Amino acid sequence: MVLSSASANFGELTLQYLCRRPGETSQKCWTIQDDFCPSQGAPLPENLVDDIGLDLWPASEVLCCFLADHPALAKHAPSVLELGAGVGLPGLLAALLGEAQLMLTDYEPQVLSVLQQNLEANGLSGRGKVQQIDWKRWRGNPELGRFELVLGADLLYASAIVKDFVEVLKLVLSPHGVFLMAHQIRRSILLDPKTRVPRLEDYDEPLEQFRSLSDRKI
Ligand SMILES: C[S@@+](CC[C@H](N)C(=O)[O-])C[C@H]1O[C@@H](n2cnc3c(N)ncnc32)[C@H](O)[C@@H]1O
Repeated sequence: MVLSSASANFGELTLQYLCRRPGETSQKCWTIQDDFCPSQGAPLPENLVDDIGLDLWPASEVLCCFLADHPALAKHAPSVLELGAGVGLPGLLAALLGEAQLMLTDYEPQVLSVLQQNLEANGLSGRGKVQQIDWKRWRGNPELGRFELVLGADLLYASAIVKDFVEVLKLVLSPHGVFLMAHQIRRSILLDPKTRVPRLEDYDEPLEQFRSLSDRKI
């Protein structure tokens, strides 16, 4: 796997980051086969890691643009946490827009290592940390505290992880905190039983599940 360094501008800020070189093949093809999806609790085939976090996903750029357009959201937040951060751009940008203490989290060691390098590349190691949080296993750590601004980009891509994700979200978000999520709508292709014409399912199942499980307005 080859990483490349890149930079991206959002408003007046430029972020430096490492991510998988565009065109490099991800091992993520197994994530669409439920049998092999570690997010769903199934074991990974030997020698495979869940490396989709090494790519920069469009939702994360959308979230960065939103933050750059609404800088007050990050400017006044004393603490920011990003869940399933991957390359970590939204968290890094939020920290640079203000003076927040930043925590970038993911679950895959290779991704955590890239996050640490990206934290350093943006001069944020003094007020930022990288922490492993696996939604399937993590059930809180009082020392971590709660965060005023929690960010997430393209996290709800499998129904089986939504319940655990919401549990974690409830543990990390402060009572008056804000959770900002950029979600990539994905709907399955169905074969209409009557017409035999393929069509998109009416709804995005993980998103609907998230809506029904989260008891605060989203
Ligand atoms: C589609 S990627 C999005 C990455 C990044 N947020 C972005 O938008 O570029 C999904 C992210 O969720 C992380 N993830 C998946 N399952 C997880 C779990 N059980 N616990 C923590 N992170 C998880 C992956 O490692 C990956 O970084």
